[in-house]
Amino acid sequence: MDATTLDIEPLDGCGAMVRGCDVRRATDGEIDRLRQAIFDRGVIFLEDQQLTPEDQIAFARRIAPIVVNRYFPKTERYPEIAKVEKSEAQTTNIGGGWHTDHSYDQAPAMGSVLLAVETPPTGGDTLFADMYAAYEALPEATKQTLLRLKAHHASAHVFGENSAYARTDRPELSGHKDTPEAVHPVIITHPGSGKRALYVNPAFTTGIVGWSREESLALLSELYAHAIKPQFVRRFQWRPGSMAIWDNRCTWHCAMNDYQGHRRLMHRITLDGVPLAA
Ligand code: SIN
Repeated sequence: MDATTLDIEPLDGCGAMVRGCDVRRATDGEIDRLRQAIFDRGVIFLEDQQLTPEDQIAFARRIAPIVVNRYFPKTERYPEIAKVEKSEAQTTNIGGGWHTDHSYDQAPAMGSVLLAVETPPTGGDTLFADMYAAYEALPEATKQTLLRLKAHHASAHVFGENSAYARTDRPELSGHKDTPEAVHPVIITHPGSGKRALYVNPAFTTGIVGWSREESLALLSELYAHAIKPQFVRRFQWRPGSMAIWDNRCTWHCAMNDYQGHRRLMHRITLDGVPLAA
């Protein structure tokens, strides 16, 4: 397969579908095109990728360096691969609210490579929202206000002692002592596309720097409602061998939890990022 067979089709809402690509055999030129498509479209989807864990790790490393997530359970032999799993009996899933990964880090994760291993007969889709488009659609005066603001991001309320997961049937995801916090611009310029994106998210953003909690919540809740308008959202339906590679700097994602009584297992590799600037 050479670069001419690889087809990247932009999708409505968010993302692009890639056809004609077996990532195990991708040329360096194809890897560059995939990386740029991730930067430009926010997320790319591929089907029928028959990958061993070694294949997934080798492919991910060609896109960007790998960073190991602090909180998720790892696959037995591969610390680079986190298990995003929900068993038949569990009721809480991982990533079941809108978020972007690792925004609590000083240099937030660039992205994630998620491979479907076991999927439920129906349900278990993932929603992706385009933060470039969400930014672009804001009124000009709001853009000018947001361009001057920074926001706090934290992890303790999700993964620390007595965190949200502690009150669910997934307490293993809580109780962590390593709970970083960071401050980032509310509007970032994406380092790989040069485009502006809205960079706050419902899971990890805890407030606007210099604003009271009430003032922060009023602004953030308005931005959150705006960012998930249907025109910015793409829903992806998985089957074993489906793969999504998303960019955390310009998308949000949300894993649907609508398949109670069935198992869903995904292998996730997180890609390292850089500090973000306005
Ligand atoms: C995640 O937030 O990384 C999980 C996404 C999913 O399981 O679809």
